[in-house]
This record gives sequence, structure tokens and C-alpha cells, in this order.
Amino acid sequence: MVDFIVNGQKKSVDADADMPLLWAIRDHLDMTGTKFGCGIGACGACTVHIDGSPARACQTALSDVAGRQVTTIEGVNGKVAHAVQSAWQKLDVVQCGYCQSGQIMSAIALLTDTPKPTDADIDNAMDGNVCRCATYHRIRAAIHAASAELGA
Ligand code: FES
Ligand code: FES
Repeated sequence: MVDFIVNGQKKSVDADADMPLLWAIRDHLDMTGTKFGCGIGACGACTVHIDGSPARACQTALSDVAGRQVTTIEGVNGKVAHAVQSAWQKLDVVQCGYCQSGQIMSAIALLTDTPKPTDADIDNAMDGNVCRCATYHRIRAAIHAASAELGA
């Protein structure tokens, strides 16, 4: 049994401690906003925040989050998250949508740490988030728009 906090609520998952956090989130806690893409840390679809920092849930063992705070796309909140979600809608970023919860989690983490990112900062922070629909230009524009909305 591993106890941790997900989106502000205490959860206990009865599973192998080596199981990927992604499996716990999707299959044990029934939160399917966090996506399975590659399972090898190469696509970013499974990005969550662990104690506020972006992490690949497919590469994180359940035991690694014992007692820690995990935030998924279902639980993002606050002014940075709202600015990102609003910019995503205004710029119509999403195409098929599969990668987008991971993209948004990475964008929120970036803007929380770096309120006024340069293109290079964005490319660096978003590098591991793959989009098969190639929405990269709109993602970059939306991050700049969210930054402007936040007054950075
Ligand atoms: S599913 Fe985790 S990085 Fe691709
Ligand atoms: S919007 Fe389709 S994979 Fe990114």
C-alpha cells in the first residue's frame, strides 16, 4: 500500500511499489486525463507534477511518490493554470488532443518557474513533450499569451 496526495486528496493505492505511477493514476484512481503515450519517458503525454515539478508518470515508481503531492491535469488550479488554459482555448492549440494534458502540465510548470520565458526557454522546457499533430507553433504562442495575461 502506498499513500500519497493526489490533487489535494489523500489516496492509498494497493499495488506493487515498483508499478509506474501512471498505472496507479489511470487504472487504480480512474483519472484518465494523464495519457499513456510511449511508456519509456520519450513523449511527455504522462506528465504530472510531483511536489510542483514536472515528472513523467510512466517513469516514476509508485514508491517514489509515497507521502508526496501529485497533481494531474484534473487538479490544476490557480492563476497560472487558468492563464494557460485560457490561452490554449483562445489560440485553438489543440488538434487531436492526445498530447495536450502533458503539454499543459509542462507549460504550467515552466510559467510558474519562469513567468516571462524566451523562445529558447520554451523550447527547452517543452522539448520532451511530443505532438504528433505538430501544434508546436501554437503551443509556443499560447505560452507567450499566458505569460502576457499574467502580466509578466
Ligand atoms: S508515456 Fe510517459 S513519456 Fe511517454
Ligand atoms: S494535438 Fe494531436 S498529438 Fe498533439
